[in-house]
Amino acid sequence: MSALLKGKTAIVTGAAGGIGRVLVDGLLEAGANVVATDVNDAALGELEKVMFEKHPSAGLVCQHVDVADYTACVQSVQGAIERFGRLHILINNAGLGPGIIREDHFSRLIGIQEIEPEIWQRIVAVNFTGAWNMTRAAIGHLLDQQWGRIINVTTSFFTMLRGGFHPYGPSKAGLESMSLGHSQEFEGSGVTVNVVVPGGPTDTLFVPDDIGVPRSELIAPSVMVAPIVWLCSDAAQEITGNRYVAAQWDTSLSAEEAEKACRAPAAWPQLGQSPVWPGGKPSR
Ligand SMILES: NC(=O)c1ccc[n+]([C@@H]2O[C@H](COP(=O)([O-])OP(=O)(O)OC[C@H]3O[C@@H](n4cnc5c(N)ncnc54)[C@H](O)[C@@H]3O)[C@@H](O)[C@H]2O)c1
Repeated sequence: MSALLKGKTAIVTGAAGGIGRVLVDGLLEAGANVVATDVNDAALGELEKVMFEKHPSAGLVCQHVDVADYTACVQSVQGAIERFGRLHILINNAGLGPGIIREDHFSRLIGIQEIEPEIWQRIVAVNFTGAWNMTRAAIGHLLDQQWGRIINVTTSFFTMLRGGFHPYGPSKAGLESMSLGHSQEFEGSGVTVNVVVPGGPTDTLFVPDDIGVPRSELIAPSVMVAPIVWLCSDAAQEITGNRYVAAQWDTSLSAEEAEKACRAPAAWPQLGQSPVWPGGKPSR
């Protein structure tokens, strides 16, 4: 076990899914306490069992939390603070993909008429509003202690812009832009906000077999662990407003070198440089 995150407490949303599970494992391995939240109670129970077998003295709590429910998010944050004394890290990883509309969405893209308004609202409520709900619930505590790490899991720009991937792509584009905005808002406060994405289709249940390539060719969810654990450490205090493609994080380098090689700005700030703004563009 490394001690990189010893004494820190993290909430991971969507913790019982393919990426969430490896993140919980990686954070525990790095010495953090973890509050693992999800709506899939069976998978959450299985995660709890496996994690306590692997890390018998783990500071781990598994909670049913629907991130689309703001009150539940507030209770989750309060529960983490009551159990472990403080909260330091928030990983907004919960997500719903186009697979909940139709399994064969890679070979036959989804059209607007197939998307029921309730499904549109649910996906946006989880992928975009859910991350805001958790951030809003946690931010007062993080700002007060002048230390916090928020990691938002979005997706590749290709998917954000791809027709036929609605509302998944646009919901993640919203989260991407919110990430940059929050990094600016919290700058200098001790609370950082960064985006980490796998880099492409990743081998979890999120990606149906319809993708049409052997699952062994998909990205391993474990690529997410090294960048996220390091970005959550004290060493990353000055690192905010960035985006990392985890599959390109080179674990043969030191974490500092890997971070520099992998770093890009979150969202698309270069497109915001020349608004037509009376009196000149605001500095922030
Ligand atoms: N798998 C990929 O190819 C891929 C690629 C890029 C980004 N991502 C993103 O990575 C994140 C994790 O995806 P994954 O591949 O592990 O998928 P997954 O489906 O295995 O896991 C997602 C988890 O989120 C949970 N969840 C759904 N609705 C929720 C809600 N309302 N509240 C709390 N939890 C909820 C699900 O129960 C599930 O356990 C998602 O945000 C996804 O958009 C995945």
